[in-house]
Amino acid sequence: MRLQDKVALVTGAAQGIGRAIALRLARDGAAVLVEDRQDNASAQETLALLRQQGAQAALLVGDVGQVADCRRVVAEGVACMGRIDVLVNNAGVERRAPFFDAEEADYDLVLGVNLKGPFFLSQAFARHVRERGGGGRIVNVSSVHEELPFPHFASYCASKGGLKMLMRDLAIELAPLGISVNNVAPGAVKTPINAKLMAQPALLEALLADIPLGRLGAPEDVAAAVAFLAGADAGYVTGTTLTVDGGLLWNYSEQ
Ligand code: BGC
Repeated sequence: MRLQDKVALVTGAAQGIGRAIALRLARDGAAVLVEDRQDNASAQETLALLRQQGAQAALLVGDVGQVADCRRVVAEGVACMGRIDVLVNNAGVERRAPFFDAEEADYDLVLGVNLKGPFFLSQAFARHVRERGGGGRIVNVSSVHEELPFPHFASYCASKGGLKMLMRDLAIELAPLGISVNNVAPGAVKTPINAKLMAQPALLEALLADIPLGRLGAPEDVAAAVAFLAGADAGYVTGTTLTVDGGLLWNYSEQ
């Protein structure tokens, strides 16, 4: 198994893409630290699913938008499993608003969870790797919107564009420690973040028409890309984004 004896910390793992990543990394042999904002029914369900698979797993509770929580979560993860080898910065939120009406609280929430969180979690993780030696992996779950404009989601685009440059910078800065840093950029995936979209057939049809492969992504499609970047086959890959979007990002045609 390619992640045998590795420990992975996955943020936002109570549901959606994060849960699929947790389950996939466990299937590949990793022990998994499930991080989320609350110890609730969905976080417990992720844990139960992991244990059903025979994985070693624990729950860490924290708000990644708070620097103190980022540091505590990494420290608790290390205390619990003895080490962390793979950090998956998956937790993410979006808030829809026309730019003229965007509120400070929504901006702070989106930038906090999507960018400040990965920044300070990566810092805490890198300090841990520096102490123990032996390298590690950081995989950020970004979005096609690290490249592609998304009208009415300016804060989300700013956060994901920032995450792209944070990844590129850290790939260089952390390379001497043997830490690789990459992004996975999903397109439209069947998860709670897209619940409204999936409930409105007209909106969904319009979006599907823009996806060359003709379907929404499954969380497992994204998890497979994360597993690749976390595993030994990707040992020489750093500073790059792996897009998993059914062709959405670069879709263009003329009649
Ligand atoms: C967003 C979704 C959106 C998708 C494709 C994702 O990053 O979270 O709301 O449907 O990108 O645009």
